[in-house]
Amino acid sequence: MVFDVITIFPDFFRSILEQGLLKRATASGHAVIRLRDLRDYTDDRHRTVDDRPFGGGPGMVFKPEPIFRAVEALRAERPGVDFPVILLSPQGRLLTQSVADELSHLSCLALICGRYEGVDERVAENLATDEISIGDFVLSGGELAAAVVMEATIRLLPGVLGNEESCQQDSFAAPGGAPAETRHGLLDCPHYTRPAQFGGWKVPDVLLSGNHEEIRRWRRRKALEKTWRRRPDLLRQVPLNEEEQEWLKTILGESKNERSGKS
Ligand SMILES: C[S@@+](CC[C@H](N)C(=O)[O-])C[C@H]1O[C@@H](n2cnc3c(N)ncnc32)[C@H](O)[C@@H]1O
Repeated sequence: MVFDVITIFPDFFRSILEQGLLKRATASGHAVIRLRDLRDYTDDRHRTVDDRPFGGGPGMVFKPEPIFRAVEALRAERPGVDFPVILLSPQGRLLTQSVADELSHLSCLALICGRYEGVDERVAENLATDEISIGDFVLSGGELAAAVVMEATIRLLPGVLGNEESCQQDSFAAPGGAPAETRHGLLDCPHYTRPAQFGGWKVPDVLLSGNHEEIRRWRRRKALEKTWRRRPDLLRQVPLNEEEQEWLKTILGESKNERSGKS
């Protein structure tokens, strides 16, 4: 999968490309990340990418021309290939696991990183095919957001993690085959590793039992419990079998008792 990142800070990405998942995925050829310096698409001596906002007010705004030129250059490199042009913006649709899953099925996409007060609105209206936000907060620039989008997407590409089961068990991962818009799962279950005793805290016995079916059931129940306690909104979209519905009733009963102070 090819990512073209349009940014005024290409160096921002160097360290994340030199370690961990992004390094492995690019070294193995699963992902290609091409950094496009927005200033290369300017036409003045000062390589100007921004200007003052019409109507006054603080800060600067990215000019439309360099961004349009950068995307035109990408299109010229890939005649006939229709790829999404994603503007990173706090006003975009929220990045979720299902959005990352949707992106991971594409062969290429372009990411536009804004800065300052943002990007001339004509980019959002006439060039970008999508706007993505990584959360309801405001960053100073789109670079971190682009890195988050790439990491969340690339780890879903077949062969990248090596152990495919790992991302199928992660929080929000839905059972395979579910339609994209309903691909929501539970939060992940708790994980433990050696030592079995640490600081007076013991790892749950079932995990040491070697009984795989009991371990599977314990994990699913704990995932259900965690989801109920932390993100009950997710439960609306997760199909539960009869046993899981019974567990949920017990968990609801337990948490009602906790709230009313009973043991
Ligand atoms: C300071 S922000 C501009 C915020 C804009 N004035 C607003 O309030 O909507 C500068 C750039 O950072 C990026 N950015 C900031 N927060 C983001 C978020 N939550 N998700 C994705 N990109 C974000 C966008 O590319 C944006 O153009």
